[in-house]
Amino acid sequence: MNPEVAIVGAGYVGVPLAQVFAEAGKRVVLVDVVQERVDMLNRGESYIEDVPSELMQRLVADGLSATTDFDVLRDADAILIAVPTPLSRQREPDLSYVLRAATDVAARLREGHLVVLEATTYPGTTREDVLPVLERSGLKVGEGFHLAFSPERVDPGNERWTTKNVPKVVGGITPACTERAAALYESAIDTVHRVSTPEAAELTKLLENIFRSVNIALVNEIAQLCDRMTIDIWEVVEAAATKPFGFMSFSPGPGLGGHCIPIDPFYLTWKAREFGFYTEFIELAGKVNESMPYFCRSLVSQALNHAAQKAMKGSRVLVLGVAYKPDIGDMRESPALKLISLLQNAGSDVSYHDPHVPRLADARLGLNMESVPLEPAGYDCVVIVTDHSSIDYEQLVDDASLVVDLRNATGEKGAESPKVFKL
Ligand SMILES: NC(=O)c1ccc[n+]([C@@H]2O[C@H](COP(=O)([O-])OP(=O)(O)OC[C@H]3O[C@@H](n4cnc5c(N)ncnc54)[C@H](O)[C@@H]3O)[C@@H](O)[C@H]2O)c1
Repeated sequence: MNPEVAIVGAGYVGVPLAQVFAEAGKRVVLVDVVQERVDMLNRGESYIEDVPSELMQRLVADGLSATTDFDVLRDADAILIAVPTPLSRQREPDLSYVLRAATDVAARLREGHLVVLEATTYPGTTREDVLPVLERSGLKVGEGFHLAFSPERVDPGNERWTTKNVPKVVGGITPACTERAAALYESAIDTVHRVSTPEAAELTKLLENIFRSVNIALVNEIAQLCDRMTIDIWEVVEAAATKPFGFMSFSPGPGLGGHCIPIDPFYLTWKAREFGFYTEFIELAGKVNESMPYFCRSLVSQALNHAAQKAMKGSRVLVLGVAYKPDIGDMRESPALKLISLLQNAGSDVSYHDPHVPRLADARLGLNMESVPLEPAGYDCVVIVTDHSSIDYEQLVDDASLVVDLRNATGEKGAESPKVFKL
């Protein structure tokens, strides 16, 4: 049966997107380059926590499928591209995944196709990078096929806001491209917001992520000042959040994580240089946020020094929670990696416990570790890096000899305990 929607890239974005279209009654196929992923999906096994395996089994039974064979694209009505957009080692945009996917689509492009790029990227990618590749097929945009950009805004682990109910922003190369893409999304997603160009849609997504990065940096800078002034940053943020207008609450932490916030802003920085423009807010926010693992290491050092009369060198440290945010197992860009490496470099013997991350490895930082059982008493210090909700933090305060709480997970109990040091 011909698929109505083909999604290229079966990851954190592609799989929930496939779910939403499948649940709207569309015939959906996921296309990926990793055979193992495809096999798992076809067996109804999901590796994306937002789409549990029971749900995946039902979707597969109802017709959702996955393949590594790009030829299925020929018969699809719409092709949505959701492949990675990382940074290179020099921290410049790496469009290689997008261009490879576009090349594979171009080889199968036919009259009437709708192609939508969903991957986060700089303004101009759809028109300047993807369109020329697709037009190598001999078809012209707006005549032979339609092309649009629509940023994915999924927040992995967020049960309130999902791919289905977060409004979808759509901007096409031509007005007809916008309408065609908007009509497709309207068939499955609650709200669609049209903008006039792909560039506006591309920049919308970056603005959202830069907004988060800058505000997190602001609260991280204030947290560092609070440490010197011995003011509780968490109390201040909580109090500021009582203002019903003009303030939005952001939490301090050990640094940025995830595939989006630490990376996407630099896509704009790079593109802005082409226009002789320097995105200073982005650079400054990056600098402050990247300093946080170093600041957190100094908190661990202070805590060991003052509360345990111990040096970092030789002390046993348990890092509690390593995923980049609570209740998921996503390790991408997690600040825990940097912090573990810094603690090790200072001579500490570091272990970690994370119910969602059985093992972690980072070749660049030389890390290869397995999660250990949560036995706080065996350590000189427990550092709460990610506050998974399954952990009993009150019990932790009772059991551990020293806690450094970078997430305010220990709450009032931690505030009252002399053995808890908070960010
Ligand atoms: N993860 C998020 O929370 C999130 C949120 C919004 C936007 N985004 C953006 O969405 C895009 C995809 O991110 P993701 O988190 O889904 O990535 P991911 O790494 O989870 O998944 C990408 C998938 O694409 C596959 N792939 C790579 N190259 C391919 C190719 N040429 N053809 C087919 N498949 C290919 C990979 O094997 C992988 O399964 C990125 O631009 C990202 O910035 C991600």
